[in-house]
Amino acid sequence: MATEQTIGILGLGAYTPERIMTNDDWAELIDTSDEWITTRTGIKRRRFAADDETSADLAVAAAREALADAGITADEIDEIVVATDTPEMYTPDTAAFVQDRLGVRPVPAFDMAGSGCAGFLLALDVARCRAEEGGKNVLVIAVELISRLMNWADRDTCVLFGDAAGAAVVGPGPNPIEMLAAVAGTDGSKAGILCLEAGGTRVPFTLEAAKAGLHKKLVMHGREVFREAVHRMGDAAREVLAKAGMTLDEVALVVPHQANGRILDAVAKRLGLPAEKLYSNIRDYGNTGSASVPLALTQAREQGRIRKGDPVLLISFGAGFHWAALLLRF
Ligand code: UT7
Repeated sequence: MATEQTIGILGLGAYTPERIMTNDDWAELIDTSDEWITTRTGIKRRRFAADDETSADLAVAAAREALADAGITADEIDEIVVATDTPEMYTPDTAAFVQDRLGVRPVPAFDMAGSGCAGFLLALDVARCRAEEGGKNVLVIAVELISRLMNWADRDTCVLFGDAAGAAVVGPGPNPIEMLAAVAGTDGSKAGILCLEAGGTRVPFTLEAAKAGLHKKLVMHGREVFREAVHRMGDAAREVLAKAGMTLDEVALVVPHQANGRILDAVAKRLGLPAEKLYSNIRDYGNTGSASVPLALTQAREQGRIRKGDPVLLISFGAGFHWAALLLRF
């Protein structure tokens, strides 16, 4: 008798570059301090890619981990989705390079770009739909190599970020990590609070723009982003729990986008979530954009924070303003 197959997550993986950049390293380059960064963000260090590493390198490394964890080979992949705001090139997308590098058949492969740190959860839900459509194995990757594209002189933003990649394989299996419910939303009226304006059609990439450093000028209204993040992640958590007919008490662990330690504390407070149920690795990795949720999820499982049968809640927000939440059962 054939074993029953359910669509879910078959494997997880992550990659962080070796180079460690501490707060003290930043303090040697710009007017900041370990004390300011630690108290304002909870970050102590972050990883930065080596000079010869690119987004596709990070993505492929994380993908290989996820494939090994799923126990499948590259030729069993039927589709690839890459969430990134720091692509290998603007055209073609990072997914094309990943498909070639992994030696995957000529399957559909595409990027979901521009949704910032919310990218992975949005891509994971799209992957679930695509997998359900035809029993496909979909490789989902989130990768950010922010250190290459950010402004190293802008202390308001540069100290926050780190480089990383995370990946998941979504497909049919006898005993996958179940995807119980997902919600997402967008408030485009808040696009201006977190954006990189230059390089598109509004402010084309010209010599003048480049000389003014506009291509690396991340506009961030920190306090407003902070407020929106707490509000939207809190509401998304409640909404996805209601959709699944579950309560927060039943959730074993919440794995949020690692934006800022104080944002995570505020979300926990808003939800009435005890600190031990909130996973955070912000201290060692900083904000790794779309890669932060799969990196944190992979590490939480490796560290024994998640057991078989545990409901785990993922929540994120990102430039757009986008937000998303997804409820899993391991
Ligand atoms: O994935 C989404 C990414 N973005 C976020 O998640 C950002 C969310 N927002 C935040 O995390 C916080 O708003 C920040 C960490 C960005 C800032 O914390 P804050 O408590 O809101 O500080 P602030 O913006 O009110 O700035 C306080 C002071 C300012 O100086 P003045 O004007 O009071 O003299 C800044 O110039 O801190 C100064 N400052 C710094 N000082 C030392 C800003 N950046 C730095 C720095 N080192 N790196």
